[in-house]
Amino acid sequence: MGQIKHMPTPVTRTACAREIIALRHAVLRPGFDVADAVYPEDDDPTTLHFGCFEADRCVACVTLLPSELDSEPAYQLRGMASAPDRRGQGLGAALLDFTEQHVITRTPIRLLWCNARTSATGFYQHHGWRIISDQFEIPTVGPHFRMCKQLT
Ligand SMILES: CC(C)(COP(=O)(O)OP(=O)(O)OC[C@H]1O[C@@H](n2cnc3c(N)ncnc32)[C@H](O)[C@@H]1OP(=O)(O)O)[C@@H](O)C(=O)NCCC(=O)NCCS
Repeated sequence: MGQIKHMPTPVTRTACAREIIALRHAVLRPGFDVADAVYPEDDDPTTLHFGCFEADRCVACVTLLPSELDSEPAYQLRGMASAPDRRGQGLGAALLDFTEQHVITRTPIRLLWCNARTSATGFYQHHGWRIISDQFEIPTVGPHFRMCKQLT
């Protein structure tokens, strides 16, 4: 009889840049040098990283950079990704929920924004984000909409 393999329970938590960059690179900058997936602010003490981990494997990741939107203090959400073999299983949603709750409970910031790939706008809309720009192009990446969410 074959052995049943148990998937480790995913743990969603804060992370550091070196734990998540491999997934960010593989999903968002495939074919480019890994340096293309590194943000200048990655190691700043005010930058927040979050990941969903199965044992030591990072299966979803996201990063928040201190920012402003229309002069209101905000975080810019960047590098949202889930592993291709784990999509559609709720990991991205769990990570986004965790991230938003972290901001609400640990910071005075109540506004998030991102430049969302057009292919991902549905994911964010599903979580209460709204589109606030016309479509625009980011070179080497593709078409985007700016989106935001006011946290309550
Ligand atoms: C966008 C992404 C992070 C979503 O991660 P995921 O783990 O597949 O998301 P989930 O399984 O938690 O999906 C949550 C909900 O959003 C929906 N959803 C997920 N991706 C979607 C998309 N691209 N468009 C519309 N809805 C989407 C799911 O159907 C699900 O709905 P449900 O709750 O009714 O079942 C993932 O598809 C990804 O990494 N894509 C490639 C990288 C990318 O585009 N990142 C965003 C850059 S701005």
